Amino acid sequence: MNTVTTVRELRAAVAQARAEGKGIGLVPTMGNLHAGHVALVEKAVQRVDFVVASIFVNPLQFGPNEDLASYPRTLAADQEKLLEAGCDLLFAPSVEEMYPQGMHSQTLVSVSGVSAGLCGASRPGHFDGVATVVTKLFHMVQPDLAAFGQKDFQQLAVIRTLVRDLNMPIQILGVPTVRAEDGLALSSRNGYLSAEQRAVAPSLYRCLSQMATSIKAGERAYPQLIASAKGTLAQAGFRPDYLEICQADSLRPATAEDRQLVIAAAAFLGTTRLIDNLTLDLEETH
Ligand code: PAF
Repeated sequence: MNTVTTVRELRAAVAQARAEGKGIGLVPTMGNLHAGHVALVEKAVQRVDFVVASIFVNPLQFGPNEDLASYPRTLAADQEKLLEAGCDLLFAPSVEEMYPQGMHSQTLVSVSGVSAGLCGASRPGHFDGVATVVTKLFHMVQPDLAAFGQKDFQQLAVIRTLVRDLNMPIQILGVPTVRAEDGLALSSRNGYLSAEQRAVAPSLYRCLSQMATSIKAGERAYPQLIASAKGTLAQAGFRPDYLEICQADSLRPATAEDRQLVIAAAAFLGTTRLIDNLTLDLEETH
């Protein structure tokens, strides 16, 4: 597996693979790779002949008080994991390579609708940063497919909308969340947790699972269910940011009539913000 750092080298390597008749896949990441990322690469490897991964900690998607400076950078370990997963090419550009005119004069891509609530409400500008960098990566690589984790459920919805609205001929693959044995969704940010916080962290998923069980059993008083689950999270030691039951496609608050749901949450343990979600198809439970 080759690692390249410039758009020029990236385009040359992809052009060669294309000339050999290969289908191209892209797995965009911010590095510090774990089994969740490896699953994305493996899924892409099953479907196309040439898989490009990118590692870029994108400053445009971080708010002023967020963890851009402390975000873990572990390139050598990441390269090993990508190689093992069957990745063909790593693109690891600098900030200057991605934003040669500077971030602030960069054209922004803004996806309306699905970007608005949940993480979009708590992290203003975050999804513009994501949509912009993903659009740039899509134009640089011009992949046939790109893989993203379902753990970032809203991000996946933003990217599906982006591709649809801007007529990009790219198949978007949503890959199921990989969890630790105790249920905690794998995330680079789990590395920030102290041992005590790590012991508390799985209760976020437990809480979502309990909500799903209640809904499957017929509970439709969503505001009350949410209020009680927030109380449970707070008791466990979390500071809930949001906890919502949404329509899975629009991400608008669900009503009792909706059948495809996502229960989505973000909550702080100390200064670490964890997110998780669980989808629910009520048609299936009849
Ligand atoms: O999910 C991520 O790691 C990032 O948001 C992404 C999609 C690589 C864009 O920077």
